[in-house]
Amino acid sequence: MGVLPSSTTRIKSYARRHPFFIIPFVAALCFFSLTAIFLFKVDDVAYQTKTVAGHNLEPTPWHLFPPKTFGEETKYSRASKIIHCNYLACPRNTFNNYDTPQHDPSHSSASNNDTQCPEFYRWIHRDLEPWSKSKIQLTHLMEAQKRAAFRVTIVGGRLYVDLYFACVQSRQMFTIWGIFQLLRRYPGMIPDVDIMFDCMDKPSISRSEHQSMPLPLFRYCTTPQHFDIPFPDWSFWGWPEVNIAPWDEEFRDIKRGSEVLRWNKKWSNAYWKGNPDVGAPVRTALLKCNDTRKWGAQIMRQNWLEEVKSGFKASKLSNQCNHRYKIYAEGFAWSVSLKYILSCSSLALIISPEYQDFFNRGLIPKENYWPISTSDICRSIKFAVDWGNSNPKQAERMGREGQKLMETLDMNRVYDYMYHLILEYSKLLDFEPSPPPSALEVCAESLLCHADSEQRETLERSTAFPSAAPPCTLPPPDSGLIDQWIQMKIKTISDLELLEKKQM
Ligand SMILES: *[C@@H]1O[C@H](CO)[C@@H](O)[C@H](O)[C@H]1NC(C)=O
Ligand SMILES: *[C@@H]1O[C@H](CO)[C@@H](O)[C@H](O)[C@H]1NC(C)=O
Repeated sequence: MGVLPSSTTRIKSYARRHPFFIIPFVAALCFFSLTAIFLFKVDDVAYQTKTVAGHNLEPTPWHLFPPKTFGEETKYSRASKIIHCNYLACPRNTFNNYDTPQHDPSHSSASNNDTQCPEFYRWIHRDLEPWSKSKIQLTHLMEAQKRAAFRVTIVGGRLYVDLYFACVQSRQMFTIWGIFQLLRRYPGMIPDVDIMFDCMDKPSISRSEHQSMPLPLFRYCTTPQHFDIPFPDWSFWGWPEVNIAPWDEEFRDIKRGSEVLRWNKKWSNAYWKGNPDVGAPVRTALLKCNDTRKWGAQIMRQNWLEEVKSGFKASKLSNQCNHRYKIYAEGFAWSVSLKYILSCSSLALIISPEYQDFFNRGLIPKENYWPISTSDICRSIKFAVDWGNSNPKQAERMGREGQKLMETLDMNRVYDYMYHLILEYSKLLDFEPSPPPSALEVCAESLLCHADSEQRETLERSTAFPSAAPPCTLPPPDSGLIDQWIQMKIKTISDLELLEKKQM
């Protein structure tokens, strides 16, 4: 650092001799120093600034996955992209003007302004029940942070995120995008909140372990043994890595595909296609049922690497509705495939799930799906297929009810679920939400900016518009009713198991 003083001395003597050349000289020197400082800082920022794409973030320690790689060629191009996207992409003062979208023409008539939410939205109250007395304190949140990948703070209708860990693929980007779209859909209606979020598969706040101090942590699924709060997963906004479109689009497509063959023209056996190598015992067990004559089931392996190479020709979900029965098997935890399987209007044979996402609470056995027991999967599938083939009217009706459940759950209703969950959650906060100093404001451009071309295209297609109608009305809490549903479900399933045992 001895360069500056000596050069200053030289400048002085130079200036004495040539007083009129001093200004451009100093200007040039300033420029070079600033550039040097800037480049140094850029480097610094590039190594420290975290992004929704996963730059400078380690994988979650509780669910490891290979570190992310990025397409930018040079360190400099990465640094400038990070700075541009994170700090310059959201127009500051014009934020509101810039981001005020047009009303969605397809929803311009406020005809549904007194719509009841689906009955199972009552579960929102049940999920938040652990904090009804204690309220949610800042200390709860800080404890939950230890299991969170990111924190979402909404203040005055603006969205801030603080990033802690990377998530697999583009989950983080798509989840935060979804929350941002909720703000666009109901401008001025989303309360101030502060939420810890984990984006990996398994619930982590065990009820027995955290009984004395339940920790509020949003994620995509939960179980009756966990406090984790279920929230719609990223795939509702699309999943470009496996060629899945935003939900409304994907549903329309699958429904169209489901109408290609009438019920009696569909294959009379049960079909499953997926990845059996995800560490899920039920999927391994399922491989043994691959025998259409013995078990009435066809089990197909999805080879994603092959699919990516062939442009996903063989994995189009809308071409997979040609069987009367479709099997659902959980993966490492809940599986996003449930909604696509139900959308087919085939009768869904659901292998007794361990995990609950936000909407599978709407499933009612023998009404909109058929339960398959985990103890003897192949036999149980065979029993369901035989029953369905001898009771085609009833089987077809149950299949349609499953499809109807998913049709009701269009993106309008998904946003309404998010709205009500966040609203009820905000009522429990015992502190004033404010973004932590390390949080960054998020807008559409700052998210799109980090997306690659495929991600960007998918995100743009899932843009939400301000709703002309208010959200659906959330049914009031009724713990007794939910207990009744649970009991009924248990009874229907055990009656069926008895019947199954008798017939074998
Ligand atoms: C919507 O709500 C407004 C005011 O609450 C009411 O006047 C109107 O009749 C409602 N429209 C429909 C279609 O229900
Ligand atoms: C199941 O059987 C079919 C037909 O015999 C076969 O094509 C398919 O590869 C088998 N699936 C698995 C996972 O082995």
